[in-house]
Amino acid sequence: MAQLIDGKLISTQIKDELRDEVTALKEQGIIPCLAVIQVGNDPASSVYVNNKKKACAYIGIESLSYELEESVSQEELLELIEKLNKDDKVNGILVQLPLPKHIDENAVIHAISPAKDVDGFHPETVGNMCIGTEGFLPCTPAGVIQLLKRSGIEIAGKECVVVGRSNIVGKPMAMLLLRENGTVTITHSRTQDLKEVTKRADILVVALGKPKFITKDYVKEGAVVIDVGIHRNENNKLCGDVDFDDVVDKVSAITPVPGGVGPMTIAMLMDNCVKSVLHS
Ligand code: GUN
Repeated sequence: MAQLIDGKLISTQIKDELRDEVTALKEQGIIPCLAVIQVGNDPASSVYVNNKKKACAYIGIESLSYELEESVSQEELLELIEKLNKDDKVNGILVQLPLPKHIDENAVIHAISPAKDVDGFHPETVGNMCIGTEGFLPCTPAGVIQLLKRSGIEIAGKECVVVGRSNIVGKPMAMLLLRENGTVTITHSRTQDLKEVTKRADILVVALGKPKFITKDYVKEGAVVIDVGIHRNENNKLCGDVDFDDVVDKVSAITPVPGGVGPMTIAMLMDNCVKSVLHS
């Protein structure tokens, strides 16, 4: 029977630890503050933003909410970010992605001060992560590392295969597994014979964005499988990039969807928000 890696439970443990840290900070008169910017009202983004604000409230982090019209100009958005960069009360700045097509996402990511970059997307933050300097870690990959560590799964020396090479998940995921001394392979849409590569994995992290793509033919007996995907199937039920029912009897441990990686992303955002007090 596979071990079910419970992201809901582990994320709650992390949030409770952070709540204690924030209580101690408050005794010194320090209240961490996160500015959350949403442009437009994409329903999925609204759910994520609300969950982030709820997590702030749970931990005792102050959140400031900026809801901008879909039609806001890039210049106005950059001006708001600049104002928040200069505001000493604000420790972290988060701009929910994706942004409307007329706004250059890269320009926005560059505009956020690296000292307040709680998403970990700024090139300076990414560079620090790659060379192992202390700083903000990208939330989803950092959440996956916490899931593995807190479930007692050793990374050092293991064959780790990451499926997907996005800037938000695949690439930083590979870097963090490498930092933990895993032997890391990144696969992507141009990989020849994907199954042959994924079947080598002791730890398989899947973030390719295709519902139930990874079936038992892609996994080695006894592998640990981490599913970063989230989709709604034809019956409006959530599912991941991994066909859970198909692989569950073959693997040693697996994350469910929902309740696996998803809640960890928010827990690690909160961890960055608490860290951001130390950077400012
Ligand atoms: N959209 C999807 N994932 C993320 C994330 O981690 N941070 C932000 N800001 N937007 C996202």
